[in-house]
This record gives sequence, structure tokens and C-alpha cells, in this order.
Amino acid sequence: MRSCKNLLVSGGAGFIGVNFIRLLLSPEHAFSGRIINVDALTYAGNLSSLEDIEARHGGKRYFFEPGDIGNPELVQSLFKQYEIDTVVHFAAESHVDRSIVGPEAFIKTNVLGTFTLLEAARQYWGTHPEGALFHHISTDEVYGSLGETGYFTETSPYDPRSPYSASKASSDHLVMAYHHTYGLPVTLSNCSNNYGPYQFPEKLIPLMILNMLSGKALPVYGDGKNIRDWLYVEDHAGALWTIITGGRIGEKYNIGGENEWENITLLHTLIDLVSCKTGIAADTIKGTVTFVKDRPGHDRRYAIDCSKLKRELGWKPSVDFETGLAKTVDWYLAHPQWIQQIQSGEYQKWLKKNYEAR
Ligand code: NAD
Ligand code: DAU
Repeated sequence: MRSCKNLLVSGGAGFIGVNFIRLLLSPEHAFSGRIINVDALTYAGNLSSLEDIEARHGGKRYFFEPGDIGNPELVQSLFKQYEIDTVVHFAAESHVDRSIVGPEAFIKTNVLGTFTLLEAARQYWGTHPEGALFHHISTDEVYGSLGETGYFTETSPYDPRSPYSASKASSDHLVMAYHHTYGLPVTLSNCSNNYGPYQFPEKLIPLMILNMLSGKALPVYGDGKNIRDWLYVEDHAGALWTIITGGRIGEKYNIGGENEWENITLLHTLIDLVSCKTGIAADTIKGTVTFVKDRPGHDRRYAIDCSKLKRELGWKPSVDFETGLAKTVDWYLAHPQWIQQIQSGEYQKWLKKNYEAR
């Protein structure tokens, strides 16, 4: 099993990064080293999600370093200052709809930012990268869109169809190229849709929960029959740790929930759950479901074959969808302050821009 002492987490103030850091710094976890979280705190980054971690571990096992991964001086200095042996690269622009409205930020962070981080790792680890690892977190969206049958495997051809997925595909290729060309020790994972606590409410599940709570319309793109494969975020975090400590260098691993849902069916399940937990009548909420103009280039179906990860490293999802959704709704109901902070002017502007024109 690979060990790591000084972990540079990029984008650790975002949804999955927060859950990953919380997992590794939980008392029962095997990790005993330090985490250095570099994050530019875009609209999606939120330090309040890590307040308790900062209070307990700040300056000892947890260090926050504000900044852009596209800044070479900054990232080079972090490698030296903290003697980084492992990079866990989450930082990205991550929302497909935003990539349609404004693709430039996606190229800057996802392509150039990844390049800058790779260069810093290559320079710092030099010709003796033994024991080091650059783990890149990617998405199933790089594989494109499936029809009614079939699954994405690690050898499925790349066929990205949005500026977001094209920028992630580009970063995946750069990571593999740095391995083949320079011998950089890398692993790469492509995961399906995550849900759970701390997710920014521009994504389907938290957006719908918050709209239900405030009596707003529930906007369903197109015919609502697009299919996604949902994984509880803590299971993703666990899979990442499994790959970082046990994955083969130069390999990519698919991660998925084996849990496909049509958007409209998922929404009805979520409505029943929110109704049950809040007492708001399900029929009242159902009356707010609104079919709106489809997302351009909307991928029809994603489905991940994660048998390689299960077979080679013994990982499997541990949270079933019913439990995970209930935990997620409970979390949003219990954290009104977190929600209030998130629903800033910027969030309101985004809702206006994305939904008023539909
Ligand atoms: P997120 O949007 O919630 O968080 C992204 C984080 O990156 C934020 O904290 C943001 O401030 C930071 N960031 C953005 N640009 C930066 C820059 N230039 N420099 C430093 N920090 C920057 O994203 P997420 O949902 O947590 O996704 C994390 C990673 O996982 C992404 O690479 C995404 O492509 C991938 N992924 C996400 C999902 C999903 O369902 N959310 C599924 C598969 C893969
Ligand atoms: O598959 C992994 C990807 O999952 C990640 O790489 C992305 O970072 C993450 O954002 C997510 O992408 P999706 O586009 O699948 O997620 P989103 O939550 O935006 O949408 C899920 C589905 O719900 C999709 O079919 C579009 C639909 N949708 C979404 C929104 C926001 C709606 O019908 N209405 C909405 O308002």
C-alpha cells in the first residue's frame, strides 16, 4: 500500500474536495499526514464547509493556501514549502450549463490550470519521482453520450460534447501524456454524477431541494428522460483514497454508483422524500414541475462500468440511493446558514441568466 505524507489537494473548498478532506481528517481514517488545500475560492468554493476542520487541524495537519492553480510561481512554491509527495487534483470549473454560457474559464482552469500543476510536479519531483503520485479527478462525461444500452469502460473512446467535458478530456490527455513522456507517476479516475452534502445548488439535486423548500418552479430540461448514474459523494471520496493508495501507476479507473435514474423519475422520488420530511404536500410540489428548453448538446445517458476498480482494488459503493438521498435532504434541511451564504448575489445572477431565457 502506497503511503503519503504531504498531500496537495487542489479545489478542496468545492463539493467533492470538501468531502474528501473531511474523510481523510476524520478520527477513524488511516491517513496520518498533512493536507494542503489550494483553492481560488470561485463562486463554487466555500471555506465555511471546512470551518471545523480549520479549527481542529489548522496549522498542524491542515493548511489552506488561497490561489489559482494557473499561477506557476504559487504552485511551484507550495511543492517546495510543504514537500509535496501527492497531488489530488479536483480544482476545476465543473458546471456544464456555465460552460455553455462562458467556456473561457473552463479552458483556463481545466486545461491551463492542470498543465501548470503538472509542470510544477514534474519540476519538483524531477528525475526521482519514486513514491510520488499525481492523481487527477475526471468525469464520465469525457466519454460522450450513450444510447439505451452499454456502459463506459476505461477503454471507451473519448467523445466530449460540451465545453466542460472537452476541457476535462483535454486535461485527462495532458495527465497521461506527462506520464508517457516524462515518467510522471499518475493515476486518473473518471466518475459519474455525485450527490450529497456541501454541493453547490446549481446542480440538479440541491437545486431541486432548495427550489422545493422555497416553493419555486422545478425546471426539468427537455423531456426529463436523460439518464445519469448517481454516486454518494463519500463513496467517491473513498474510491479516490483506494486508488491513491493502491492504484497502479499510469492506470485510469472508472468510478460509478451502478445506479441509473431518469431525471424525471429521480425528481418524483425526491419530491416524495422532501414532502415526507417537511410536511409540504407532495401534490403541491409536483404542481411546480416545469419542463423547460433543453440544454444544448444534452448528453442522453451516462452509465459507468466500474468493474476494474472493484476487481483490482476491492472497492464498491457502500451507500444505497435511498439512504444517500435521505441523508442529503436531511443535511440541506439542517444547514440553513450554509444555504443562506451560498445564495449570494452571484447565485441569484446565475439563476436569472440560466433559467429566465428557457
Ligand atoms: P466544484 O465546482 O464544487 O468545486 C470546484 C473547486 O475548485 C471550487 O472550490 C473552486 O473554488 C476551485 N477552483 C476553481 N477554479 C480554480 C482555480 N483556477 N484554482 C484553484 N481552485 C479553483 O466541483 P466538484 O463538483 O467538487 O468537482 C471536483 C472535481 O471532480 C472536478 O474536477 C470535476 O470535474 C470532477 N467531477 C465532478 C463530479 C460531480 O458530480 N460533481 C463528477 C465527476 C467528476
Ligand atoms: O457525470 C459527471 C458530471 O456530473 C460531472 O462531471 C459534472 O461536474 C457534474 O456537474 C455533473 O454533470 P451533469 O450535467 O450530469 O449534472 P447536472 O446536475 O447539471 O444535471 C444532471 C441532469 O439534470 C442533466 O441531465 C441535466 C438535468 N438538469 C439539470 C439542471 C441543473 C435539469 O433537468 N434541470 C436543471 O435545472
